[in-house]
Amino acid sequence: MTKITFVSPDGEERIIDAEDGDTVMDAAINNDVPGILAECGGACACATCHVYVDDAFMDKVGTPSEMEESMLEFNEHRQENSRLSCQIKVSPDLEGLRVTAPESQY
Ligand code: FES
Repeated sequence: MTKITFVSPDGEERIIDAEDGDTVMDAAINNDVPGILAECGGACACATCHVYVDDAFMDKVGTPSEMEESMLEFNEHRQENSRLSCQIKVSPDLEGLRVTAPESQY
């Protein structure tokens, strides 16, 4: 298990024990975290699992694949630290990861 803090757009925080090997999106959906919709179920095809990754974890989560990049490219809420949470695998390396949901997933 790896602890992940999800921050909603209004600043509310939830700390979740995520299963290693799941994605950050799985952890959010399995725990009813608000603000993460994941309409495509993790296929990297909807971008409604968008999150902002805390700066301290940007190196650890790595860089987006070409496919993820193409999904983020035209997202109007995109920031430097934007990622699709279905493309981040939970592992002990990410203990304490903190991600924030955008104001809107559309
Ligand atoms: Fe659809 Fe992540 S769940 S892109």
